[in-house]
Amino acid sequence: MKNLHLTLLLTLCSISMYAQNQIVLNADLGKHTISKHIYGHFSEHLGRCIYDGIYVGENNPKIPTVDGVRKDVIDALIKLKIPNLRWPGGCFADTYHWKDGIGPLANRPTIVNTWWGNVTENNSFGTHDFLNLCEKLGTEPYLSGNVGSGTVQELADWVQYTNFDGVSPMSKLRKENGREKPWNVRFWGLGNEAWGCGGNMKPEYYANIYRQYATFMTSTGNTRLYKIASGASDADYNWTEVLMRDIPHNMLDAVALHHYSVIDWNKKGPSTTFSEDQYFTTMQRAYQMEELVTRHSNIMDKYDPNKRVDLIVDEWGGWYDVEPGTNGAFLYQQNTMRDAVLAGMTLNIFQNHCERVKMANLAQIVNVLQAVILTKEEKMILTPTYHVMEMYNVHQEATMLPLTIQTNQYKLDNRQLPALTCSASKNKEGVTHISLTNIHAREAQEISIDLRGAKYASVNGRILTAATLQDHNTFENPEKIKPAAYNGATLSNNQLKVKVPPFSVVVLALK
Ligand code: AHR
Repeated sequence: MKNLHLTLLLTLCSISMYAQNQIVLNADLGKHTISKHIYGHFSEHLGRCIYDGIYVGENNPKIPTVDGVRKDVIDALIKLKIPNLRWPGGCFADTYHWKDGIGPLANRPTIVNTWWGNVTENNSFGTHDFLNLCEKLGTEPYLSGNVGSGTVQELADWVQYTNFDGVSPMSKLRKENGREKPWNVRFWGLGNEAWGCGGNMKPEYYANIYRQYATFMTSTGNTRLYKIASGASDADYNWTEVLMRDIPHNMLDAVALHHYSVIDWNKKGPSTTFSEDQYFTTMQRAYQMEELVTRHSNIMDKYDPNKRVDLIVDEWGGWYDVEPGTNGAFLYQQNTMRDAVLAGMTLNIFQNHCERVKMANLAQIVNVLQAVILTKEEKMILTPTYHVMEMYNVHQEATMLPLTIQTNQYKLDNRQLPALTCSASKNKEGVTHISLTNIHAREAQEISIDLRGAKYASVNGRILTAATLQDHNTFENPEKIKPAAYNGATLSNNQLKVKVPPFSVVVLALK
């Protein structure tokens, strides 16, 4: 009896020490798979993303390449295990005519990139270059079709060019251009931001256009096309409502959603020298993803209770002012610990909603917005966001474990946000991974995790942390921020105690 009292007292003491942050993890209640496609990326003909960042041309005297693509970038992306890559835009997609980018280089027309700085492009990176790159990366291509300024025939032809294995005008052309076998592209976007740069359409009008385009995009062979409707911006719930109501669901695999974490479109603030106030606002915008995903999903549930149509967040990330001295239309920004915690928090949200959210694409992959890679001539660096995406990729295709969380608040002035977000999964080998992101700018979070439904014998982990929120990797100091082993978790009687420093990300593995 005395011993029981002592145990109770000790338990109460340890709970109160960690009283504010408590997580209950249900290891035996996992039902839904975290699609690897939540870890997708986005590459647009914008600034230095494609030209310079990815493609520098064959026989480049300074930079080692494979078929004109930077080898350092290929190697880094293979390590990251990217499941899909969206191309060629963005707003650019609704101006892009894919036939301009095939065939001998000398015959390809130059075009003007009217969305992004009116720069002239020579079309040296086209369909073959992109799809062959995806093969090298072991990633699935996601082609964004031109619905804004293209034609139904043009998009139907692109599908036939990339996917048809028999005799046809487009497969003949593909073979003449050096590719015998089709690439079998599954993911197709029908326009981009149709409410804005994709044509300034009303949702009812776009729903009709979608139906028309989708009708002529034919699945062939074993490749069933997965058709993605251009989705809402942020909280435009009416857009999702109309699409779900007006497009027959046998023509629709997914509805997209775009949400950027922007402080103010007219005053975005610097990417590195931001204040705590600006940081807090970025976190508020990022945390809005929880509400957006919940509410768009609720609308989808109304029309599709069996969850046949997926929600795809095919543009997300932080958006700040461009780096001083760079072209304003090129959207080149640095990437700090603010971006790392933004990514950790957002991935936790997507994973916890994995029943409906089946794909997401961080904007953008190299040199644009919240990039995972930055390049400067022959130099390349990995950003803090890269490291979070890499640490979290253990969740790809694992079973999401439901959890409840009680967390401290991160308060600034009269505003508050949950300091901690968490998601967890169990992979095919039986390993449970728990991802924890502490967005608090000043306070570490001590956390008690009650592990239910499984017995664990060991825990280890990795952490991404830094001395200041503004810390970032530079071409002079490329490894200032990188993951380190984390030994701050203790496991006893299936109770886990963890301490996560301010603005840090931790991923634990339990066996
Ligand atoms: O990612 C930059 C731009 O943001 C994309 O081209 C567009 O879809 C969005 O508005």
